[in-house]
Amino acid sequence: MATAATSSNMPVLAALTTLLLLAVSSCHASPYYPLELGYYRYKSPQAESIVKAVMEKAIGENPGNGAAVIRMLFHDCFGCDASVLLDPTPFSPTPEKLSPPNNPSLRGFEVIDAIKHALEAACPGIVSCADIIAFAARDASFFLSAGKVGHFDMPAGRRDGTFSNASEPLKFLVPPTSNLTTLVASFAAKGMSPEDLVVLSGAHTVGRSHCSSFVSDRLDVPSDINAGPAGFLKRRCPAKPTKEDDGGAGCCDAE
Ligand SMILES: *[C@@H]1O[C@H](CO)[C@@H](O)[C@H](O)[C@H]1NC(C)=O
Ligand SMILES: *[C@@H]1O[C@H](CO)[C@@H](O)[C@H](O)[C@H]1NC(C)=O
Repeated sequence: MATAATSSNMPVLAALTTLLLLAVSSCHASPYYPLELGYYRYKSPQAESIVKAVMEKAIGENPGNGAAVIRMLFHDCFGCDASVLLDPTPFSPTPEKLSPPNNPSLRGFEVIDAIKHALEAACPGIVSCADIIAFAARDASFFLSAGKVGHFDMPAGRRDGTFSNASEPLKFLVPPTSNLTTLVASFAAKGMSPEDLVVLSGAHTVGRSHCSSFVSDRLDVPSDINAGPAGFLKRRCPAKPTKEDDGGAGCCDAE
């Protein structure tokens, strides 16, 4: 929920590494295309450095771009096929981009476009958008933490999907109102432990969230949230926020 990376965010940012490794292992579970370190070393040797340079610029302009791309990897990666980027087509008329967990809050699409554009100039038709999202989120954790989360190896070789269905995120991405029982069960359904849940949730707290996603059942009820952060959030959020209070598209990353 922090607006930008500060030193007090370091434990959270450290958790990003584990988040991204989780994302890797869920991708890796695909029997069809095992991921590989240095996948582009012959076909596009500068690919990873091009991604990193564009991310550095985008985060320099707005640290929220880093948080946005980390959330995008999470939302893409119970599939890791970049299908979260798809606009409606006749073949895929209701893509997951239009699903409530993504629309209108998912953002950073123009950052991915800028990276893709730079890569197409260097090595046309080689680097998948799914790998771009994964590299970009890895680099976001590096820049948002000012290098405290070191550069780590990200396997690649993901293929881009051409179809997605807006009903899928609703089935698999847990809503912010879930209680602990539901959260633990939803992660277990994806082969993840309660520890994975804590790590993923912690990694997710970089960026901004909608007031309407946590006031009614987290702030406006007796809770054990520390008084300091609770008071800070109460001052920033209306007592009964609606989606209209939230700032609309491009506002938020943590949900
Ligand atoms: C998306 O999934 C839903 C529920 O499984 C299904 O009813 C719908 O036909 C699917 N949409 C497309 C375009 O395949
Ligand atoms: C958690 O939420 C689920 C789904 O809404 C509900 O069925 C369950 O009773 C809740 N559990 C607790 C402990 O509140």
